[in-house]
Amino acid sequence: MTVTVERGESSPEKLLAPVLSSFWDQPKSWTLDTYLRHEGYEGMRKALAMPPDDVIALVKDAGLRGRGGAGFPTGMKWQFIPQGDGKPHYLVVNADESEPGTCKDIPLLFANPHALIEGMIIACHAIRSEHAFIYLRGEVVPVLRRLHEAVREAYEAGYLGTGDARRRKLGLDGLPDLDITVHAGAGAYICGEETALLDSLEGRRGQPRLRPPFPAVAGLYACPTVVNNVESIASVPAILHKGKEWFRSMGSEKSPGFTLYSLSGHVANPGQYEGPLGITLRQLLDMSGGIRPGHRLKFWTPGGSSTPLLTEEHLDVPLDYEGVGAAGSMLGTKALQCFDETTCVVRAVTRWTEFYAHESCGKCTPCREGTYWLVQLLRDIEAGKGRMEDLEKLADIADNINGKSFCALGDGAASPIFSSLKYFKEEYQQHITGGGCPFDPAKSTVWADDPSSTHLGVNA
Ligand SMILES: Cc1cc2nc3c(=O)[nH]c(=O)nc-3n(C[C@H](O)[C@H](O)[C@H](O)COP(=O)(O)O)c2cc1C
Ligand code: SF4
Repeated sequence: MTVTVERGESSPEKLLAPVLSSFWDQPKSWTLDTYLRHEGYEGMRKALAMPPDDVIALVKDAGLRGRGGAGFPTGMKWQFIPQGDGKPHYLVVNADESEPGTCKDIPLLFANPHALIEGMIIACHAIRSEHAFIYLRGEVVPVLRRLHEAVREAYEAGYLGTGDARRRKLGLDGLPDLDITVHAGAGAYICGEETALLDSLEGRRGQPRLRPPFPAVAGLYACPTVVNNVESIASVPAILHKGKEWFRSMGSEKSPGFTLYSLSGHVANPGQYEGPLGITLRQLLDMSGGIRPGHRLKFWTPGGSSTPLLTEEHLDVPLDYEGVGAAGSMLGTKALQCFDETTCVVRAVTRWTEFYAHESCGKCTPCREGTYWLVQLLRDIEAGKGRMEDLEKLADIADNINGKSFCALGDGAASPIFSSLKYFKEEYQQHITGGGCPFDPAKSTVWADDPSSTHLGVNA
């Protein structure tokens, strides 16, 4: 569900800022016709008439930060691409979206794929790239079809293709060729990690690469490469079209702009809520109908399962990079998974840890072995067969994974362990002293029907 209400002074919805989602509810929102009716490809026209370095400077000044999780400044990433090096440059869009709870890029691509294509054209102009790739999570076949169709429309319109055809259709001199290749991955969480993604795109098994060299120097086919998240690139056309001041009028000094927040779990109205950075979960819940009737919030993730859990006491934390960081977590992908008092935190953490153990690529020992042992301990505790000393062992193993693994998947696996022990140690102890789980799983609707599933099923 998208909230695309007008921003009226007195309504709680005044806090929302629908840009990427502003016409998702229109018939055939994904077509070029609809996109053009909503000022589509205006940002591209402006950008192509500007020198590439000016485009980079504009995106940098606007303060756009990567929406893939780490919040790295997008313009600065583009600036790292060496110029005049005689090598091909590549743009690779990360559309792997596999983090539990994260569900923004797939709906965005499904409803408005042209925002991404327009952003890619602008980014390629800025970094002087003639070939861009979209690495999509392969299981989402309807989105794959829609992307293929949108790319076809963009070729037909002359936005993509050979320089001659583009010059003729766009009436702009000196345009280089530009091709977009849509690639469907085979469905592995680790292939969202940018260097594993590049290996997978080159046809190898997806495992993270040693850095340096960083992708900006030796990325795809050992050439300078920018890897950006779908939402990061799709946010660029509006900045070109409406200006950096407009973008900076939303959010905060260090985290400006609008973004997609994905509400899921035990909430009355799950869905995408597009608002300025710095909005709070309390405000989002107030305007969306709150936690499901008769229940109260127990814990939540600010940005997917790899960001440390927060609780009811953090409802007023500003959802931007600095605010969530100061509260001891990370903004991540802004996947706000909400769990009410019927949820067993030990069970939730066990399921997430099973996911990380399953998705560990096996390249480094702390993550490969550590996630396996975490699962064994957690399953025992959940089943009432744990011992008090297991809690220390859990923290110790998580500590040996965190910061000591080859890539950030390991850190992500440690996050729910540390944060749940910090806020809910008593609940772990209850499982041990009581010889089992004190919660009735039938009262919680968030679990997938298949109890052996390693994925979190959200049916709120
Ligand atoms: C295990 C793992 C999975 C990741 N999955 C994704 C993903 O699905 N999509 C994404 O954009 N970034 C993902 N990232 C982050 C990427 O490595 C990279 O930082 C991001 O694509 C950069 O884009 P941005 O600068 O636009 O945020 C993942 C990182 C790790 C460690
Ligand atoms: S941390 Fe895990 S996923 Fe990352 S390289 Fe090591 S084993 Fe692979």
